[in-house]
Formats: sequence, C-alpha cells, structure tokens
Amino acid sequence: MSLIDDEGVSNLSGNEHFQDVMEARLSRRGFLTGGMATAAAVSLGGIEALLKAVPASAQETEGESVDSAEEHAHGRPFLGFESVPVSSADTVIVPKGYTAEVLIAWGDPVSNGPAFKQDASNTADEQARQWGMHNDGMVYFPIVQSQRGLIVQNNEYTDDGLLFPDGVSNWTQEKTNKSLNAHGVSIIEVTKRTGFPWDWRGRRGKWDVVRPSPFARRITGRTPIEMGGPAAGDPRFVTSEDPTGKRVLGTLNNCAMGYTPWGTYLACEENFNGYFRKSGPQTTLEKRYGITAAGFGYLWHTTDKRFRADEEPNEPNRFGWVVEIDPFHPSSTPVKRTALGRFKHEGAWVQVARNGRVVVYMGDDERNEYIYRFVSNLPWRQARLQGISPLDEGILYVAKFHADGTGEWLPLTPDNPKLAGWSLNDILINTRGAADAAGATMMDRPEWIDTFPRSLTAIATLTNNSRRGSNPPSVNNPDGSTAAGSARPPVDAANPRAINNYGHIIRWHYRQDWTEPTFGWDIFALCGDPANPAHGSTIFGDKYGSPDGIYVDPSGLLWIQTDVSTSTINAGAYAGFGNNVMVAADPETRETRRFLVGPNQCEVTGVFMTPDRRTMFVGIQHPGERPDDLPADPANPKQFSSWPDGPTGGRPRSSLIVVTKDDGGKIGSK
Ligand code: FEO
Ligand code: CA
Ligand code: CA
Repeated sequence: MSLIDDEGVSNLSGNEHFQDVMEARLSRRGFLTGGMATAAAVSLGGIEALLKAVPASAQETEGESVDSAEEHAHGRPFLGFESVPVSSADTVIVPKGYTAEVLIAWGDPVSNGPAFKQDASNTADEQARQWGMHNDGMVYFPIVQSQRGLIVQNNEYTDDGLLFPDGVSNWTQEKTNKSLNAHGVSIIEVTKRTGFPWDWRGRRGKWDVVRPSPFARRITGRTPIEMGGPAAGDPRFVTSEDPTGKRVLGTLNNCAMGYTPWGTYLACEENFNGYFRKSGPQTTLEKRYGITAAGFGYLWHTTDKRFRADEEPNEPNRFGWVVEIDPFHPSSTPVKRTALGRFKHEGAWVQVARNGRVVVYMGDDERNEYIYRFVSNLPWRQARLQGISPLDEGILYVAKFHADGTGEWLPLTPDNPKLAGWSLNDILINTRGAADAAGATMMDRPEWIDTFPRSLTAIATLTNNSRRGSNPPSVNNPDGSTAAGSARPPVDAANPRAINNYGHIIRWHYRQDWTEPTFGWDIFALCGDPANPAHGSTIFGDKYGSPDGIYVDPSGLLWIQTDVSTSTINAGAYAGFGNNVMVAADPETRETRRFLVGPNQCEVTGVFMTPDRRTMFVGIQHPGERPDDLPADPANPKQFSSWPDGPTGGRPRSSLIVVTKDDGGKIGSK
C-alpha cells in the first residue's frame, strides 16, 4: 500500500478491488498506479439496523475511507454542490463551480487516424479506427494514478440515419460494415496535460486523448472473439463460418460493464436480438430471446447472411454474453465468458468476497426479467495461478425476493431439482428458460448494479415496467416458453407498483460475505416527482425517473443516471422532468440532488471517477434521437439536437465528457 494517490488518497482501505488491481498491475507492468476507483464506502444508514449483525472483524477489513474531515464529520459522504435546475436546453448543465468538456465524440480518431467528417461520409474502414457511436458504460483504468490511464467504453448501438450522409437508403454491405464497426468497444489513452490540479498560471489541468497510443483500440461487431467457458464449442454455436463453435465475429449492443481485480474489462451484450431476423416459425429459444421477423429495424440482414436466422440459426446463440477484454494487451483476443449465462446483459459488476472468490452481479434488462449472480468456484488468485479464468468455473444463480424482506439465490445448476434434465450448457445458452423453471422473481427491467463494499450491500436500478399489474395477469412459464417481454405479472413486494412508469432502486445485503445464499433487501427509492402525490415517489430531494446507470464513487456517494425514453422525454408521465439527468444521492440520508442535465433527446449513461475523485467521466448517448424511435432523417439530422458541435456541426454526436471542479477539488465535495 505504499503507492498512494496524488494527495489525500481517497482510499487507504484494505478493500480487495483496490489492492488486487494494484498488485496485478504492478506485477505485470511495473507501472505506478492508484488502483481502481471502487473503494471502501462509508456505512449505509437506511438498513443500518440489519447490518448490525455484521461482525466487527468483517467491517475492519474494509477499513476507513480517508477523506476530508468535513466529509466524514457525519460519517458519510457530503453533497457539497448546489442542485442544477431541470433543463431542456441543448447543452450539458453542471453545478456552479464545475466545468463539463467533451473529451471525444463519435467518429473522432482513437489514435492517429482519420478525422471525423461532419457529413458522415467516413468509410467503414475509417469507422473501425474511430470512436464508436452511442457510447455507454465505461471504466477508467489508471496507468499513472489519476493523471494518465485508459478509458474503455462500450458503443451500444447506432442510429443509422445519422451514420451515413443518406441515412438508411440505398443499403449496401459497406453500410452494414460501417454500422458493425460503429458498435462494440472503444479504448483510448487519456492524460491530464498540465499541472495538477492547476498549472503555474492557475489553470485547471485539461484532459486529452493521447494520439498516437499503443493502447488505442476498437473492438467492433466484426472483431474475432473467442467463445470461452463451459459452453465453448457447443453444437448450438456452430455456424457455416465457424465449424468449431469457438470463434465468433464481434460483440454487439454493449450496454453497461464491469471490471475485474486482475485488470480486465467486461462488456455486456444487451439487446443483441434486434439485429437478427427470423421470418420462419420461431423456436422456443428464439421466442424467449425475442428473435423476430421485424427485429429492431436494422438492415444488416439484407446484405449479411449472419443476421438471417433462417439461414444461420446458431448465430444469435453466439450473442447475449459477457465479453472479457484486456485493455493493456491491445493484440489480445476478447473472450465471451459463457459461465456467466446468456441473456440481455446490462452489466457485470464484480465484487471480491472475503473468501477471495469473485461475485458478479448482472441484470437482464427486459420487462419481467431477472437479476443474476455468479460466484467463482475458486478464489480468483488461486484460479489464475492454476491457469483458469475465475469467470469460467463457478455457479450462476438467479434472485428470488420474498415479501418479508429476505431473498435467496437460486442455483442454476443441473442438480437443482427444478432443472432436472437440463445440462449445464442448456442452462447457459437458455439462461432465461432455466431461471423461469427455477422460480426467480420477475423484476421491472434490471439495469446497472453496484456495491457498497464495506456494508456488504449491492444496489440495482429497475428502470420501469409498463407491463406490471396489467390484466389479465400472467407470468413467465416455468417451461421457458413465454415470448420475450410478454408476461403481465401482478405487483409483488420487490416490484410494488402497477404500471411502473418511474422505476425504482432496490438494494440487498449480506451478514458476513458476498457469497451467502440468502440476503436481506429493501427499496432505496421509488422514483418520480416527490412533489406530486400521484407519483408515490419516496425520493428525498430532486425528482428523477427511469434510473439506469448507477455508480458508487470512491467516497461512497451514489450517482444515478436516467434513461427516460426519447418518446417520453419531458412529455406524458415525464412532463416537467426536462432532459435526462445524473443525480447524486447520499446513501445514508437518501438526500438527492440533480448534478447534471444532458442535451436534448440524450440519455446520460456511463460514469467513472479517477481514484482521486477530481475527474469524473460521463457518457452522453444519442443526443438528437427521434421521439418515434425511427432512424434520424438524414435531410435534417439536427432536427432535435446539434450537440456537441453546434451550428457548424453536421449532426449530433454521442460523446464522452469530462467533469471537473473549477477549484481542482473533489467532485461532489463542498
Ligand atoms: Fe442499454 Fe438497459 O440499457
Ligand atoms: Ca442502460
Ligand atoms: Ca436503459
């Protein structure tokens, strides 16, 4: 623990994430590092009583976060900024005393490479060397503490109306390739150019993309990726291109993410089904995962057989996975980790248990889907010493929330009596069907999950659900035959609202370790406008709805990002809410303040801090998206937004922004 952060390090705890990543990094490269930004959190108040059962010894190992006395005067983080007002301006709004700047936008080169053309005339090959479209979950991996590092960010999807000068007309294989190349994951090296926190003239340090960088990389919808883990080579993965069932081209619809204590990034494939078309009768598996004749409107199938499920029925089985990427080895092949199951993966948040095993929390983002947990068989260090990926051998579980505030993890294993006749590969490839059979709790669209390490608490966003409490009620059939998203379940204790327009946030906790089979849970917030009794909101502070991104910063402060659909932004149930936002919440008092408002029609998604908490990276996704869900009109690309390039730009662009405090202080502090 001798290599600490710049000054007043945000965490000197024995937190596993911090030490493990540091050790892995040091042993591999000898780089100076400040460790990963997930650090010990201060205690949670809302369920403090339940946590009293945690032995003192367990709490000691998490240590204390070493922050300013002011912040910890009350033993908790401190909301030290003034709320920004609701906004529907086409710009990013941050509190007084803060600055938000664009670091990189869709189409900018990730290294030395082709510049973005504002008319979107860059080729498919050029796009493969440029920042992908519609950035989402991200992680900052330190190289030199909080001064220089890698940012790995998902590129979830494309608006093909903005991607080409003539939009989706005259579709060609070149267009399919460019769209595929705008998907995936982007890796850049970033550095703070001037003195810290100011240079000698008193200017704030400014973050730049390092160009060229040996680490800069694009992983796209066409990059060779290995199928790893128990299901690799399964006959259900064999295609005409790949008789081995072990090598797939690309990763798609990467939404949220995770990172491991051994220094890798996890990209999670969410709405992969929408790229495929199946015009013949659907199999049970296709129905359960939503492989349909209409898809989501992409035209890839018109030029590329891979996306025609009638001809390549196994290609969709090769998507819906968590993909492990080693950002520090740019020539490494990413691996789809099949032991983590196949569903619409929102994220894969890794927490090291006290016994050294890794626990991975994952949501399946669709109405009435489930929350999952993977626990490695071996402590991660031991697995790696044996040459085994900790993510290849372990047990996958699905959550059952009981009405009495307890819950349990139901194992998805062939020896679960409810899964009699299922092989492990059956379970991993049709995880949704297995979870149906096991009797999991249908949730209101599980999105991101994060953890408060010290209080053994996990927290998850449930973004909304328009099919809860509808008539007649129905549930996912235990034989796995329910069509994707079609169940209309009654409300239950963990999902207590009928037609849940605003979503809610749930948390669960353990007594001694993250691997326990049972947990206690409560609801952190029912979202909506607390000033409007009809919403039934339990937010204490500024209103928000459709929570999606969630992030526990190194001080234990909770950041929540919203994804109100473009069809509803500032309209209907969301009239008066303005554009999508990021709020900060004190996890103890639950006080909530609006910290950032995004430009028009965007979603705010993706957030990570440097370990010193002086820089916050935030993702702004799909500014200017049409409210009717159609591709943008290429004749009028700036109809709804011209952010970030403004009047001189050709079209709105998803971007990664940097938020800093003008006095060089910690984000969120006084
Ligand atoms: Fe890609 Fe669930 O948001
Ligand atoms: Ca999301
Ligand atoms: Ca979402």
